[in-house]
Formats: sequence, C-alpha cells, structure tokens
Amino acid sequence: MRAVRFHRVGGPEVLRVDDVPDPGAPTGDEVLVRVEASSVNGTDLGLRRGDLRVATLGRLPFTPGFDVAGEVLACGPGVTAFAPGDRVVALIGHGGGGQVERIRIRQGRAALAPRSVPATDAAALPLAGLTALQGLGRAGLAARPRARVLVHGATGGIGTFAVQLAVLAGAHVTAVASAARLDLATELGAHEVLDRRRHDVTALGARFDVVLDAAGTLPFVPGLLTGDGVQVSVRPLSPDVLRAALRVRRRGPRFTAVRTAPRSQDLAHLAALVDAGRLRAVVDAVHPMADAAGAHRHAEAGVRGKVVLDLR
Ligand SMILES: NC(=O)c1ccc[n+]([C@@H]2O[C@H](COP(=O)([O-])OP(=O)(O)OC[C@H]3O[C@@H](n4cnc5c(N)ncnc54)[C@H](OP(=O)(O)O)[C@@H]3O)[C@@H](O)[C@H]2O)c1
Repeated sequence: MRAVRFHRVGGPEVLRVDDVPDPGAPTGDEVLVRVEASSVNGTDLGLRRGDLRVATLGRLPFTPGFDVAGEVLACGPGVTAFAPGDRVVALIGHGGGGQVERIRIRQGRAALAPRSVPATDAAALPLAGLTALQGLGRAGLAARPRARVLVHGATGGIGTFAVQLAVLAGAHVTAVASAARLDLATELGAHEVLDRRRHDVTALGARFDVVLDAAGTLPFVPGLLTGDGVQVSVRPLSPDVLRAALRVRRRGPRFTAVRTAPRSQDLAHLAALVDAGRLRAVVDAVHPMADAAGAHRHAEAGVRGKVVLDLR
C-alpha cells in the first residue's frame, strides 16, 4: 500500500509517496480502517520542518497524519463498538502515521463519523476539534455562564472549532486573527474580531474569563484575565507553560495547557454536533495524496481552517 513519508526533515519537498508493507489483520481491540482522508495539522508541519526533532528522532522515514476518516474493513476479536462497513473518524497517537491507505487503530481512539458530511470534512475533526473541545473544557467553560472568551489564532484548525464551541457554550467570543481572515471568524459566530497585527492583544485589559491560545504563540498574560480567569495554551511543552507549572499560584489568574486525549466520547460529541448542523469543519482545500507537498505549502501560507489530504 502507499503512504506519505519524509526521509529527512526540511521543506515541503521532502514529502513523497512510498510503497510500504500492509498493516496486516487487526488484533485485540483494533479496527483495520481503509483511510479515505487525513488532515494536515500544525503538528505535521512542525514535525516535517524539524521543529520537534525529538519526536522524529530514530523514526525516519516518518509518516505524518494524526487524523483519519475512513471505512472499517475488519475488526479484532475484542472490538465491541464497530463492525466492518462502519465509517469512522479517529485520532492517531503521538507517533502520527495516518496518511496511509490502511491503518490499524484501537477502538478507543475512534468514533462513528458524522453522516452528513464527506470524509474530507470528517477528517478535519479529530485533532483540531478535540484540542478545541478539551482546551475549553480545561478552562471549565461549561461552568462559566456567559463567559468572555478570547480565541487567539481563531481562524486556524483549532481556532475555527474553538470559536464555534465557545459560541455554542453561550460565551461572548473575541477572535484574534490575521486581517485577511477576520471575515471567517465573524461567520463562525465571533462577537468581536481583532486583527492581530493592528492590536496589541496583551494590552486588551482584564476582561476575559478564558483565553484559549489556539496558535500557541501567546505568553501568559495575567493582565488579560478576570480574577478567576484561565489562559489555556495548546503547547503543553512550551517554556512558558513549563515555567508556570513550577510556580504555585494559589489565587488569581491561572495558566495551563491542553494535551489532547483521544477520547471516543468527545469525538462522538463533535460528530453529533456536526450532524445537528451546529458545528462545521472549515476545509480550505483538499489535495490528493500525491500532492502532500502542495498541501503543506498551502497550510504554511496561511489557512482558513484546515487543509485535507484525499487518500483514495
Ligand atoms: N496540545 C496538543 O495536544 C496539540 C494538539 C494539536 C495541535 N497542537 C499545536 O497547536 C498549534 C496550532 O495547531 P493548528 O493545527 O490549529 O495550526 P494552524 O491550523 O496552522 O493554525 C495556527 C493559527 O495560528 C495563527 N498564528 C500563527 N502565528 C501566529 C502568531 N505569531 N500570533 C498569532 N496567531 C498566529 C495562524 O493565523 P494567521 O492566519 O494569522 O497566521 C493560524 O490561524 C500548533 O503549534 C500545534 O503543534 C497542540
């Protein structure tokens, strides 16, 4: 079967399509999935560039891809949640490897795909959607009625889901993004939009209950938060987050990070919202497998939502 791989880190041109061994029959609680689509996440770009060299060390050639959408071809003897023919979405583990034609995945990482959208939309959901959902969950958004929420990086993969989920939770949402994409943040329901190059986000004042830094570039800014406010970063290993973890703050604004967990029930919740017409994946472009490099170039040039690879 074919897989997208890079043999060395570098520019998008290092991506190629290789023949690789078939994954074989599923065992235990694994399902074998024929992958129809997999999206490109910020994490894939960082791995390919070599920003996260430790993650690819000793693991080259490396197959990117943390999301898959596809059809269950076979089930291991311990599978209880799925049957052959089911269409699923899944979040692959930290090792990536989703941009292949067939893959074995443990059932706890998967959920039934939304029925109302194509696989290329469904594939946009797992990593970005779960990070947005779990990031807002980490801030306790559900227990903060009419919260004021700032989403930084509001028009990228995580940001587009975060804006919609915060609006659905009843929050007043301020979206920070590049000028060219502010219209998208408004379409997604943001109440206030700010051009990140014209506004000094750090000087907006203590008016937010929750700051979700979906770009992973904002330092901890206690001055943005109300007394019990919380800032959530999507970069659990950033120096800022690690420093904050060492500092015990008993009172006042908190800084924390989200490490995305492959929880089936969260994925099923996102799929249900999509089928109810309450949440949508914003897919900027779909590229064929052979054009993985083009997909990465597109994603790096500035994206509205997600770029997806069609692996059929
Ligand atoms: N915690 C976890 O487990 C986890 C899971 C998934 C991803 N991540 C991390 O989350 C980050 C975002 O992932 P993604 O897939 O959503 O990426 P993405 O689709 O590329 O979106 C990144 C967004 O950040 C914005 N941005 C870039 N540089 C910025 C800056 N200096 N200031 C403000 N905004 C900026 C971009 O907006 P413009 O259009 O304005 O450039 C874009 O909207 C990545 O670093 C990724 O590694 C973490």
